[in-house]
Amino acid sequence: MTKKTAITKAKEVVASSIVDLYSRTLPKCLCIADLGCGSGPNTLLVITEIIDAIELERNGMGHPPLEYQVVLNDLPGNDFNSIFKSLPIFYEKTKKEKEHQMGPCFISGVPGSFLGRLFPSKSLHFVHSSYGVHWLSQAYLKQFQKDFSVFLRSRYEEIVPGGHMVITLLGRTSEDDFSTDFSCLKELLAKSLNDLVSQGLIEEAKADSFNLPLYAPCVEEVRAILQTEGSFDLEKLEMFETNWDLSLDNYNEEFVFDKYTSAQNITRHLRAITESLLVQHLGDAIINNIFQRFTENIEKHLSEEKSREKSRNVNLVISLRSKN
Ligand SMILES: C[S@@+](CC[C@H](N)C(=O)[O-])C[C@H]1O[C@@H](n2cnc3c(N)ncnc32)[C@H](O)[C@@H]1O
Repeated sequence: MTKKTAITKAKEVVASSIVDLYSRTLPKCLCIADLGCGSGPNTLLVITEIIDAIELERNGMGHPPLEYQVVLNDLPGNDFNSIFKSLPIFYEKTKKEKEHQMGPCFISGVPGSFLGRLFPSKSLHFVHSSYGVHWLSQAYLKQFQKDFSVFLRSRYEEIVPGGHMVITLLGRTSEDDFSTDFSCLKELLAKSLNDLVSQGLIEEAKADSFNLPLYAPCVEEVRAILQTEGSFDLEKLEMFETNWDLSLDNYNEEFVFDKYTSAQNITRHLRAITESLLVQHLGDAIINNIFQRFTENIEKHLSEEKSREKSRNVNLVISLRSKN
């Protein structure tokens, strides 16, 4: 899956946050929650990275092994079974890599919305959430302010005083900049639906009423919500860009890429996050046509001059510490 690069960039922030938490508190059992965990290869990758960072620190400090409790959360429709099925291999691999020096790790799943309480009071040490909190219960800035505040308040109840949380989400560059980044990808999806309306394959009213309930905030908006809500101290808020086609982030600007292959990579990524919403709204018979059309539109977009500037997502990574 192509999300690896963005996760690698956020990884440094996650590692420094968890190491700081561990070395300050030295818990016997560390409870970690991943909210909006999904069910792809990234789900357990991020857990591996968190454990690796702690184990490195622990060995360096010469402390005894600790136990890990890991809770994976997503909406009830998430494919938890596929995660659970991959756990025996995960446990085996972790044991081998750590040469049996690591304490036991207990992984479980908690279905439910993170826009509300999910865990007992003050039961978590570290919360991680990537590319989930920009999804809204409804549309846009006001709703994002409301949802994100509920998210923060619920986590405050659940995280031990001084516990940490790292959130990665899609963002945008400034308060009035709605023209670039992810918005452009949304426009290309809208264009693909309209193309199919012109061909008589989708009803116009159906295409018009499709809504992608996603809000990409800018840094100032996030700061303002954190300040007003007030449960967490902001340790770090960083912005980084990623290519729509994340595989291109490993190459320099001069790299000549194959536009159709890139368009296919981008489609695969967007399909993973929008397919279920499109199927709910338009049915599944049309879904391959939509994404075929989308690939063609992306390829056209990538062929236009200056498209490189408009083919990037802005990401925000936020590191927080729960107030006492
Ligand atoms: C783009 S995926 C990200 C998956 C994974 N964290 C990653 O970075 O690859 C977003 C996930 O957030 C989940 N999600 C969205 N709204 C949610 C909510 N209110 N409560 C829990 N999970 C939610 C979706 O079901 C989806 O699995």
